[in-house]
Amino acid sequence: FSHFLTDSFGRQHNYLRISLTEKCNLRCQYCMPAEGVDLTPKAKLLTTEEILKIAQLFVQEGVDKIRLTGGEPTIRPDIIEIVRRLADLEGLNTIAMTTNGIALARKLPELKKSGLNLLNISLDTLIPQKFEFITRRRGWERVIESIDLAIELGFSPVKVNCVVMRGLNDDEILNFVKFTENRSVDVRFIEYMPFDGNKWNNKKMVPYKDMLNMIKVEFPELERQEDVKNDTSKAYKVPGFKGQIGFITSMTDNFCGSCNRLRLTADGNLKVCLFGKSEVSLMDAIRSGQNDESLLEIIGKAVGRKKKQHAGMLSLAKMKNRPMILIGERREKR
Ligand code: GTP
Ligand code: 5AD
Ligand code: SF4
Repeated sequence: FSHFLTDSFGRQHNYLRISLTEKCNLRCQYCMPAEGVDLTPKAKLLTTEEILKIAQLFVQEGVDKIRLTGGEPTIRPDIIEIVRRLADLEGLNTIAMTTNGIALARKLPELKKSGLNLLNISLDTLIPQKFEFITRRRGWERVIESIDLAIELGFSPVKVNCVVMRGLNDDEILNFVKFTENRSVDVRFIEYMPFDGNKWNNKKMVPYKDMLNMIKVEFPELERQEDVKNDTSKAYKVPGFKGQIGFITSMTDNFCGSCNRLRLTADGNLKVCLFGKSEVSLMDAIRSGQNDESLLEIIGKAVGRKKKQHAGMLSLAKMKNRPMILIGERREKR
């Protein structure tokens, strides 16, 4: 495996997350501040050619999975072309996307044909009015439609991301478990994480163990599933249910030890850790005419500086980072 993509703890980074845009068609409270964020001027965002050039370089070095994120990736007008051209890269086995599902259904058949083979859709509530409160926009029905279409088109598994926030949607955990009874989905309950401007506090975060205990009262037969290598999620299943559930325990039981991810922000920075401040501009390097060898040197140095694990939730809450929307999960400014 490429030494440029191997860090000082021996972690091999074969998974690149690419943020395709800073914009989003929702305004989820946990992702961005109410006042929005300052968007980067277009000239300072990666062009499609630059994205593909960087992707090609990483794939050449051993990346075999790319996840497209945002902001909201489906907003990018040439999303289908990007997927199609990524699919041409030899050695890239998985092209994944994390989306809010609002504008997905219409594009999904074409995305699938173009090579998209893994889909994570965010949904934090099963109650339409609450969806409006959390996301500050309408569209719950469209997300459900996207989830069902993804199942119908044969995406497997279809993952549903649910950020659990105390007092907001923790009363829906059991209903989300029931959501997996007749649907082939993998609902992942995510511990709420602190990012700039998202008003996180540790009381709003519901720990994995608490969620698990709550579910076991209603579903004592719940079974732990085998861990998938490098997975963020601890998987469980209610026997007889079509789908399964999982927990993403970034706060109470981090999985940094098996991290295999790197991120490319829409403004062209390589970010080696979701919670790390340190970033290096690959866009500047490309635009100043650096060749592949020196790009790899830059990448290798950044990867080499990656920390063993994140600082722990209370320190993270005080740390200066980007708001989530600008990291490559999803969100924007009005
Ligand atoms: P898979 O490729 O299906 O494993 O996706 P994923 O779970 O890595 O990505 P997704 O975009 O669905 O994100 C789900 C949750 O995992 C989000 O809350 C992410 O912020 C969190 N997550 C993703 N990558 C990392 C990471 O490197 N570190 C931590 N702590 N959390 C992450
Ligand atoms: N804590 C946990 N997960 C978050 N996401 C966005 N912001 C947060 C946060 N503060 C999730 C989104 C999306 C995934 C990529 O990250 O719900 O599903
Ligand atoms: Fe919600 Fe942020 Fe994702 Fe947009 S980018 S859907 S605001 S989590």
